[in-house]
Amino acid sequence: MQPEPYKIKIVEPIHLLPPELREERLLLAHFNLFQILAKDVYIDLLTDSGTGSQSQTQWAGIVQADESYAGSRSYVRFQSAVKSIFGYPEVIAVHQGRAAEHVLFGAVVERGMIVPANTHFDTTRANVEARGGVAVDLPVREAGDIDAVQPFKGNFDVPGLERLLAKDGARVPFVIITITNNSVGGQPVSMANIKAVRQVADRFGKPVIFDAARFAENCYFIKVREEAYAEKSLLDIAHELFSYGDGAVVSLKKDGLANMGGVITLKSSEVAQKARNLQILYEGFTTYGGLSGRDLEAAAAGLEEVLNFEFLGHRVEQVRYLGQALHEAGVPTVRPWGGHAVCIDAGRMLPHIPRHQFPGHALVVALYREGGVRAVELGTLMFGEGEGSPLLELVRLAIPRRVYTQSHLDYVADVFRRVMSYRDRIRGFEITYQAPALRHFTARLRECADVSVPVGA
Ligand code: F0G
Repeated sequence: MQPEPYKIKIVEPIHLLPPELREERLLLAHFNLFQILAKDVYIDLLTDSGTGSQSQTQWAGIVQADESYAGSRSYVRFQSAVKSIFGYPEVIAVHQGRAAEHVLFGAVVERGMIVPANTHFDTTRANVEARGGVAVDLPVREAGDIDAVQPFKGNFDVPGLERLLAKDGARVPFVIITITNNSVGGQPVSMANIKAVRQVADRFGKPVIFDAARFAENCYFIKVREEAYAEKSLLDIAHELFSYGDGAVVSLKKDGLANMGGVITLKSSEVAQKARNLQILYEGFTTYGGLSGRDLEAAAAGLEEVLNFEFLGHRVEQVRYLGQALHEAGVPTVRPWGGHAVCIDAGRMLPHIPRHQFPGHALVVALYREGGVRAVELGTLMFGEGEGSPLLELVRLAIPRRVYTQSHLDYVADVFRRVMSYRDRIRGFEITYQAPALRHFTARLRECADVSVPVGA
């Protein structure tokens, strides 16, 4: 692997707790890793969202930020950075991605409406449902096959979209394309697929909205995997990609390289007007939208620097390096490895644990127990067993931007090798408390008494 394309200027110490204290922390947290303090985690791969290291340029912006309530200079910079990538005239700042969903869907989603997507992220689904809408996932079939090594497994099932629009088009306010497609393993969507979605949406007169949290990684994959784009700059690719949409909801905590921030950016001034009224109600005045001037500066500088081929190449290479090491250790990973994370098929790694005992969660607990590594389940615990239940029992190791080095990744691979050696003895879990929505954040769990015996064994 090429060395990290940065040097470290500020350091934060990390420690590995001894095994008995890790066990105690698990019990106190009711086996919910969201409830464990970060200081008790050694390598934190829970998320790449808001967890990155900021560059010296971002910090310089933070120092120079304008904290005025109205008309802040930092907002002007933010607005211009957003427009220079997305190209839409309307820019509405919000505090993070789910706030963008809340505000935009509040303006355009009504009870009984259907919102199709290549796959909704959990907060996107929850915000559609909170409006009384129905979130329909239409990923391509290969997305459910972890061994199908295809370049664009994040793609939209375009014939499926066509069928849905032909049958229920009157109930569809817009179509969402999530780039990259987080819930199926950070898989990219091709430009050809985006164009095809645009054409179908046009035939039915529907707007296309991007969930663009990881747009820069998606643009990188288009450049390296889609032949026609090999010679194009990442910015040109972004411009073309967003030209096929009518707007975007963006968590700036990922490819915005910021620790906090989000934005809604739109073509339609009419929809923007409605959204702005909700922005003022829920987020803050139009020139700060729930963010401090410091946050606006950090996000603006992040957007200005993220479409960098060397940085994105190293980031994707870190994911590939860890994925390769796990693959060689016999861990079933989603391949090809995605943009921001390595995803493990815990259903296949722990086949003795049935879905209702959460194999993904069992793996997450095992990783913390074994080596203080924190991962996240993207399976039945997160998405539920009914409508919207996941294709796979995934566990995600998300790599924060510019935080960990190759030796940290080697350590994680080592923890996996140890867990693999006793995987048939890992036990499932049952829920003892759950909230009505987004239950994974606060659920309490209990470890099942025995290793389950597979049906028919
Ligand atoms: N859309 C996608 C594709 C996401 O991955 C996320 C967040 C959001 C929207 C919501 O953004 O967190 O700023 O409110 N994903 C994080 C993750 C939490 O860990 O993947 P947010």
